[in-house]
Amino acid sequence: MAGITDADFLNKVIPYGFDVATLGGYSLDSPTIEASRKIIERGRKEFDFPLDEIYSHIEREAASIKKIHKDVKVSANVRSITPQPVIDLDKIEDLDIIEINCHCRQDEIVAIGCGQEMLRRDDLGDFVSQIVDNVDCEVSVKIRANVEGIDTLDIAKTIENAGADYLHIDAMKKGVFDADYDLLKKVCRETNINVIGNNSVNSLENVKKMIDTGVYGFSIARSLISGNLDFNIANF
Ligand SMILES: Cc1cc2nc3c(=O)[nH]c(=O)nc-3n(C[C@H](O)[C@H](O)[C@H](O)COP(=O)(O)O)c2cc1C
Repeated sequence: MAGITDADFLNKVIPYGFDVATLGGYSLDSPTIEASRKIIERGRKEFDFPLDEIYSHIEREAASIKKIHKDVKVSANVRSITPQPVIDLDKIEDLDIIEINCHCRQDEIVAIGCGQEMLRRDDLGDFVSQIVDNVDCEVSVKIRANVEGIDTLDIAKTIENAGADYLHIDAMKKGVFDADYDLLKKVCRETNINVIGNNSVNSLENVKKMIDTGVYGFSIARSLISGNLDFNIANF
């Protein structure tokens, strides 16, 4: 969660049983950094680091998690309109997973063709495979489901064919206050990529519904800040 999930925050919640902790989202190039600053100007939280500090910042944050939680994989969720700034993250030793943000729906990010707008790019598969082919760490792609005019299953297949290790799906469905479990089931059935299910994991009941879709894993965001997380996910 941009502006929220830094190393201090993650070090506090990892003991709930997480085996992956995701830093960010961070903006990695001039257009996305500028967009982040516009978002901050209208009062929304964002991480705000200039180009010449962002890599050393992520390096310090990843190290500070590893220092306490050696066995937890550290991931960084990032936005960039070209692959190279994402590839450059690979030099960070303590980073296990790079997560390409094809999810953000803030107007300023969408306006520059980034975040969920990446799902409309004809070269999305090339974008992802360029990163996969040029880094040693694992690659995750975070997408938003049910974006208007986008077939989520087609996107899932594109990302699988591009060689990503994980497909992280915010299974949001407009007008529904729960995850789109049927869509997750379909993606799990019709692809072989490791699907990380996301959205509305805020109770034991929803954890079970998420697991029943066949996902490889699941992630939790808002419950970490609302205090709803009254169970230990390591029990699943
Ligand atoms: C304040 C806030 C900031 C967020 N920032 C990001 C982000 O930077 N990158 C991202 O991929 N998702 C971001 N998200 C989305 C969450 O990671 C998650 O996908 C979404 O909230 C649904 O999951 P949940 O029901 O567990 O909260 C953000 C969500 C919130 C509430």
